[in-house]
Amino acid sequence: TGLITLDLGYKNTGATLSDITYLDGDNGELYYRGYPIEQIAEKSNFSEVMYLLLHGELPTQDQFLKFEGGIKKYNYVADEMKKILDVFPRSAHPMGVLSSLTSALTAFNPKAVNVNSKEEMDEAAEMLLAKFSHLCAWTYRKKLGLSINHGDNNLNYVENFYKMCFRRPNMDFELDPVVVGALDKLLILHADHEQNCSTSTVRMVGSAHTGLFASVSAGISALWGPLHGGANQAVIEMLEMIEQDGGDVAKYVEKAKNKDDNFRLMGFGHRVYKNFDPRATIIKKAADDILTALGIEDKALDIAMQLERVALEDEYFVSRKLYPNVDFYSGIIYRALGIPTEMFTVMFALGRLPGWISQWKEMRLHNDPIGRPRQVYQGAQKRDYVDLSAR
Ligand code: CMC
Repeated sequence: TGLITLDLGYKNTGATLSDITYLDGDNGELYYRGYPIEQIAEKSNFSEVMYLLLHGELPTQDQFLKFEGGIKKYNYVADEMKKILDVFPRSAHPMGVLSSLTSALTAFNPKAVNVNSKEEMDEAAEMLLAKFSHLCAWTYRKKLGLSINHGDNNLNYVENFYKMCFRRPNMDFELDPVVVGALDKLLILHADHEQNCSTSTVRMVGSAHTGLFASVSAGISALWGPLHGGANQAVIEMLEMIEQDGGDVAKYVEKAKNKDDNFRLMGFGHRVYKNFDPRATIIKKAADDILTALGIEDKALDIAMQLERVALEDEYFVSRKLYPNVDFYSGIIYRALGIPTEMFTVMFALGRLPGWISQWKEMRLHNDPIGRPRQVYQGAQKRDYVDLSAR
């Protein structure tokens, strides 16, 4: 079978050719379809970014309207799906609920399951973009014990999501531009990140020609883990723990350095970025701006900044090139927007959805072969079966 190269964690294995996202870890650069993330985050909006990732170019006015219209066509979820939501306990982790509901969508939208042409893929994409925002909002309402809200086609994608989350029964509803703007920016920053763990999962599952919704459901499970998207929840829990423990950040930096201790500085380090994470730079500033605009003082932000300072002066972190990543400051913004900690990774998933779909579509259109890594076997050599009575 030839020589097999062992690459644990695929640290240096290119698994595909891709035109979507460029990432230069040494120089802290991230481009969506060639556009630097700094420009996109400042000038674009999430709907446009979804189009850019899916179709490869920024849309013209007509293309944009058609795309938005395509999503609005599916701005609802089948009533039966609500019954599934109802049987989950309120204590259920929203990521588990989200992954189950996304998989369940296949049952109620059979047309989107077996898509092969580009046109069918684009329609399935618009369907999922629409319905997934409902499912994310549902997990939020469930956590808070509130009934769900329907979609509103007078609003854009992010506004619609905002309203489905935050509209209270029998109360006047107003969009808060600061909150909507913050959400939009966070979603843009999470929209794609080439072959990360969840995206690779989506591609791997999809490479067996599994349908889009089921492939994305698998990606949600991968994202849930604390070493990946789940880090945003873990960061806030860590900052709260440090605060309750008297705020001694140096103690936790020492703890993270101790190899006999499982504790890691959550929100620090990245497989590819070995200089800084450009998303973290944008988010840190946004966190500061948003807290100021909303008039919120959050001790967690002070602790995060102290932690960053102490860690970045420490030889351990410097020599290993460990910097704050996208998850380090994002939770502080989500918290300021009134989003419960367990919901943070759902927000990441909503942002990452267009990336997952674009990568799935690219994989299918490029006709990538089924993903099937090899191994280096190190188990027992051939031996003869021993009868139970003789063992
Ligand atoms: N705290 C303390 N030490 C760390 C940390 C950390 N957060 N991250 C890496 N290290 C050490 C690690 O122990 C190893 O040390 P040594 O060379 O002495 O054995 C060295 O740095 C290299 O780390 P690694 O684990 O081999 O690196 P990796 O590329 O396999 O893992 C990572 C990358 C992101 C999983 C890891 O840095 C980590 O666990 N960070 C904390 C979790 C986190 O913030 N994840 C979010 C990642 S960014 C967004 C996303 O993917 O969703």
